[in-house]
Amino acid sequence: MAPPTNGSSPIQTNSSPKDFEERKKGVKGLVDSGLSKIPEFFVHRREAVSIDVPVVDLQIPIIDLGSINKDEASYKRIAQEVFEASVSWGAFQVVNHGMSKDELDYVIEKVKEFHEGNEEEKEKLYGRDKSSKVRLLSNISQVKSEAAIWRDTLVCFFDGSPDPTEIPLVCREAIMKYKEGSFRVAEILYELLSVALGLPPEYIKGMDYANPQWMYMHYYPPCPEPELTLGVHMHTDLSFITVLLQDDLGGLQVLHDGHLVDVTPVPGALIVNVGDLLQCFSDDKFKSPEHRVLANKKGPRISVAAFVAPALDSDKPFGPLKLLLSEENPPLYKEFLIPDYIKTHMSKEPNTTALSHYKI
Ligand code: OGA
Ligand code: NI
Repeated sequence: MAPPTNGSSPIQTNSSPKDFEERKKGVKGLVDSGLSKIPEFFVHRREAVSIDVPVVDLQIPIIDLGSINKDEASYKRIAQEVFEASVSWGAFQVVNHGMSKDELDYVIEKVKEFHEGNEEEKEKLYGRDKSSKVRLLSNISQVKSEAAIWRDTLVCFFDGSPDPTEIPLVCREAIMKYKEGSFRVAEILYELLSVALGLPPEYIKGMDYANPQWMYMHYYPPCPEPELTLGVHMHTDLSFITVLLQDDLGGLQVLHDGHLVDVTPVPGALIVNVGDLLQCFSDDKFKSPEHRVLANKKGPRISVAAFVAPALDSDKPFGPLKLLLSEENPPLYKEFLIPDYIKTHMSKEPNTTALSHYKI
């Protein structure tokens, strides 16, 4: 007879994804149970985990937004920096962006507190019920052929008129602060990106693309066998742009010219990356970079991503901006509706992007 347990039975390395999902305790629950080997469904193909592409000692550009309002020359220089970074990297860090280091530390601390907090409350939020705007999940996209990833995520959708009281109290204020702060950063960047594309400053914002549509509050627990799994596998973001806050642990890598580059934490900085929608809008001038996060023996690692995009139920056709097109620059994508694009994303094969379905 099995010995009585206190309700949290030890995890077996051969436990199934179904058991894992039904426990509703996420990856943190596995770690708390004291396991020393990771369950098999977390083990990735060796090629995906190994440093199969050389990691090079480069840095994504760091752009100082501090002097943006100083004079016209400073503004133009910063717009040019944003342009170059978006063309060659698709990702950069911004400093002096308007949110203080203390504010950002507060966001990280509160997100950590939530993930390490009341288990009952977390179990209630754990699940895939699409009708609730706030959910706790491990493995947000459940592509069957992909191994599971070593992280838990609190997901908040801001489309429609969500009720902030659905957000757990412990991190509600922090999440709303980051939402507002990242939105302001996104507005500045939309202006700079418009100028960078030769458009009037208000152009992209005026198309109503600058809304924080959803946010991910990630928790990457320490992992006993980090060489076998990943914090998140290589992917691109489906947003227009993503404004990401990471703590000081590191682990995020961006693919650049066939090399993986570590995104070194810079105190007080935010990471901005081009999403698939901006890549499409710019007709491939800007690129939506592939990126991943390594698992780590150390941890937890906390990060918060705000995904800025057109309304998810928008009925306006989306595609390459006509003003940028000409005979020499024909459109590279068909127009599509955002809700269809989201559906394509949900059902796509691993290692493809939703965008590739609309390529002409
Ligand atoms: C994401 C992502 C990176 C990180 O949420 O899409 O890539 O550092 N996150 O957590
Ligand atoms: Ni991402």
